[in-house]
Amino acid sequence: MENFMLTRKLSLSSIGSTLIILSMVTMLLQTSEAIADDTGFSPYVDKSGNISLPEDFRISMIHLGSWFVPEGDASGFHDVYTEAETALYYRKHGKFPDGATLVKELRPSKAGDYTTGKNVSYATGDIKQWFVMVKDTKGRFKNNPIWGDGWGWALFKTDDTSKNASNDYKADCLGCHMPAKQNDWIYVEGYPTLTTPK
Ligand code: HEC
Repeated sequence: MENFMLTRKLSLSSIGSTLIILSMVTMLLQTSEAIADDTGFSPYVDKSGNISLPEDFRISMIHLGSWFVPEGDASGFHDVYTEAETALYYRKHGKFPDGATLVKELRPSKAGDYTTGKNVSYATGDIKQWFVMVKDTKGRFKNNPIWGDGWGWALFKTDDTSKNASNDYKADCLGCHMPAKQNDWIYVEGYPTLTTPK
């Protein structure tokens, strides 16, 4: 009788462990599936690698910094935004995380005399265009000419914000970003938030 009870107990517990092992295997399989299909690494990139302009990024992202260009086609303010998590990651690791987004918005400027001084410049409500970059540490879109050198590169014009107006980052972007190559192509000196809370 005692022996019988023992085998019963044993077989019950071995059914239990088989179930546990089975569910662990299922979990592992699910994880590796998620890693294999990781096109969801950015909400702004579709399966083919098309980049979209993040909606309402002035609210959903943090302002990293601004540039003021006094003259020429690009004149005015260049305001740069990213995710708060991206800035926190950069502070910790000194580099941009996979899926990080950078948005640069160009606005014309006006100047006037204010109580702070004469000829004070400010950004108007108009927009010239937007530049977007999405970090890709895995080289996902090998034959797509808007992806390479660790980033996806995009330009959005105000007349059609639904499509990337650039189809070749090497021709449209890379040359001008060459001076920032050692900082992963980003002009990080304009973004103190990436390195310090001050
Ligand atoms: C005429 C030169 C020039 C061209 C062309 C250019 N960039 Fe830039 N870009 C700059 C400079 C310089 C800055 C930082 C200073 C500024 O905005 O004046 C910058 C900043 C940026 C930023 C903000 C992050 C950073 O690197 O500091 C993004 C995003 C960006 N560019 C994306 C692009 C993309 C995408 C293209 C191509 C579609 C492109 N740029 C083409 C010169 C250029």
